[in-house]
Amino acid sequence: MLLPTPRILIVVVVVCFLVLFAVNGLQAGRASDYEWKSSSSPSSSSSSSSSSSSSSSSSSSSSSSSSTESGIGEQLPGKVEDGKNGAGTGGLLKEFVGLSWTSSSSTEEYLEPKTGLEDRIQQFFAPVLHDNLTAPYVAPDGKVFELKKDDGGEVVWTEKLGKKILIIDIDTRVPSGPNQILDDKRVDYDRNEFKNGGDLVSNSVFDHYLYAQIHNYTYKFYQAQPLDGLHNTWILPPTLLSFLASHNYTHIVTMDADVSITHPELPLEWLFNRWGITRRTSIAMPWDTEETHGDALVSTDSKGLQVLNTGLVVVQDLEYTREMMEAWRDCPNDERWQGCSRWKEEWSHEQRAFSEFVRYEFNPEGDNIVAIPCDDAMSFPGMKAQYEGRIVSDCNGTFFRHHTLNKERTKGSVAASVMQVLFGMVQDEIKENKDDIWIVEEKKERGDT
Ligand SMILES: *[C@@H]1O[C@H](CO)[C@@H](O)[C@H](O)[C@H]1NC(C)=O
Ligand SMILES: *[C@@H]1O[C@H](CO)[C@@H](O)[C@H](O)[C@H]1NC(C)=O
Ligand SMILES: *[C@@H]1O[C@H](CO)[C@@H](O)[C@H](O)[C@H]1NC(C)=O
Ligand SMILES: *[C@@H]1O[C@H](CO)[C@@H](O)[C@H](O)[C@H]1NC(C)=O
Repeated sequence: MLLPTPRILIVVVVVCFLVLFAVNGLQAGRASDYEWKSSSSPSSSSSSSSSSSSSSSSSSSSSSSSSTESGIGEQLPGKVEDGKNGAGTGGLLKEFVGLSWTSSSSTEEYLEPKTGLEDRIQQFFAPVLHDNLTAPYVAPDGKVFELKKDDGGEVVWTEKLGKKILIIDIDTRVPSGPNQILDDKRVDYDRNEFKNGGDLVSNSVFDHYLYAQIHNYTYKFYQAQPLDGLHNTWILPPTLLSFLASHNYTHIVTMDADVSITHPELPLEWLFNRWGITRRTSIAMPWDTEETHGDALVSTDSKGLQVLNTGLVVVQDLEYTREMMEAWRDCPNDERWQGCSRWKEEWSHEQRAFSEFVRYEFNPEGDNIVAIPCDDAMSFPGMKAQYEGRIVSDCNGTFFRHHTLNKERTKGSVAASVMQVLFGMVQDEIKENKDDIWIVEEKKERGDT
């Protein structure tokens, strides 16, 4: 029998030690992976209660996580350090083990969730985007939608504007209540029913943010303070003005919380082309739905012209837009326009003031103000039938659904719009791989079984 020499013994012991160490490190690494995963799901109570930023700064931490650049990546490492089951040591071990035993690149990738939801969303939706800004759009129901072309047959917007388009939700309502988007706990989507403004806002932030990510637009939520002596919706002109002043954006698009995007695969630039928004257009808004109360038409201005609805507003960064917005903002002081102060608190506030005064003086070239067809951006299919006798025009919210009288339907519209795109993608995939997926049982002769 050969007895191991002391030297060999030492080598064996050291090797055993290293192997143990490596296995340990591997497990610790997994444990910390798990920690990452569980801490990214705030519904696990331990991780949300141990997170230092849980309650007091819930709104700021949640809003930073909505900007993929800095959010998730900043939050999660802190939580890992806070983790209770040795994740910190695991990290150290992993670092040591990593020297000999792969640099665990897959683990590292997993540990960098901030490399972005936005990228992944863009990749995911890329195959179904309607990115040809000069081509007509064929909706899932087969309807074809054409573009407005100039005399030479050209459209104005031929390149995507990316981050130069700002989608901004402006609201005084803060969606931080139970089961709302800024809640510490994950939203239970089933229970996200419209009971109050925060529920509605949660739903629209999801929709508008997702849309911005799909098309690489900038998204912001502007949490406005209530106004003194003016209805809250008067916040619109000064807020647009202040964001235009940065010159960071060529276009700013704002939507009400009860507005959903019907076809998320369609870029705004395509819609600009459809609506005839030119390089000198300052503002675009849809014609309102015709609505009566008793015998009186309530959707016109005092001259009998249909008003424009501020549920969807597109503005372009032009000097002229600034002049227009200032005049609109200052309208209630009655200096430029007599009688505007009437709309300070009376419905429909800034919307009525724009249609009553601003549009008559700020459209010298005819396309400084563009009116979007009612069917493109007002109502939803079936609204006229549902409100027979009150809603006169049959607008279907073809590109933007505006649920003015039936806000609880917004959730369904958002869900349907996303499902439509997903369904189409999965349908294509299933048909393409039908031979692999589909097993057809042979017909049996009668009496065989
Ligand atoms: C975009 O659509 C136009 C009009 O249908 C077509 O002529 C053009 O070839 C398309 N461009 C691309 C890149 O597919
Ligand atoms: C998104 O926009 C940014 C900034 O404009 C740009 O660098 C990036 O390439 C864009 N991404 C895509 C997929 O177009
Ligand atoms: C404009 O861009 C600058 C530089 O990125 C940024 O600091 C600033 O906050 C932006 N302003 C607005 C209103 O988006
Ligand atoms: C809205 O849809 C209904 C039902 O399909 C249709 O009859 C109506 O003409 C549409 N409205 C417009 C303005 O196209």
